[in-house]
Amino acid sequence: MSPARTARVLALLLGAAACQGSAAGEATGSGVRPDLYACEGCEAVHERDPASLTWHARVAGPEEPGERLVVTGTVFAPDGVTPQAGVVIYLHQTNAEGLYAGGSDESEWSRRNGRLRAWVRTGADGRYRFDTIKPAPYPDRTMPAHIHLMVGEPGRRPYYIDDIVFAGEFLVDEAYRARQELRGGSGIVTLARSADGTLLARRDIVLERHGE
Ligand SMILES: [Fe+2]
Repeated sequence: MSPARTARVLALLLGAAACQGSAAGEATGSGVRPDLYACEGCEAVHERDPASLTWHARVAGPEEPGERLVVTGTVFAPDGVTPQAGVVIYLHQTNAEGLYAGGSDESEWSRRNGRLRAWVRTGADGRYRFDTIKPAPYPDRTMPAHIHLMVGEPGRRPYYIDDIVFAGEFLVDEAYRARQELRGGSGIVTLARSADGTLLARRDIVLERHGE
């Protein structure tokens, strides 16, 4: 189940009239997406007190099967150059079998998103880091391996940004590139590998403009 895809369908059904003159989901002349806040599950961003968060979180411990992956990036203001502090990022992903498994009873989203989820809050330099494992595509092979990201800026409603996917891998092709919404910038990352074998992914985020 893809929250982003579900939200997109909802936005298409509910927001068509608001999207006249531009494709659904695209930013308008003001740079504000008409469906910015259409999001299934973005309330999970608020499941943690921002004051309890730091710029770094561990999603998966050493006991979690899979290849080690470190996701880093810098969050920028909509100008694309000013680092943005105090932004909460909620990450959730499938495990190495492509499943959202092992969730807790804490909330609807802890059950549906599985155990591989975590939050960070950017520091003064806008940077963040998640230590995790590389996800696998869903068992039905309908989507590439992906990592969901949702952002919560202080005093703003949360929204999702483009999933992290891995360049050159299954289903990350020209058709996928053409379908990108580019929320928060592109989510297609090129993996690198550190000397100790850890996979490295850099996903910088340019925050979306708000209408109010
Ligand atoms: Fe998903």
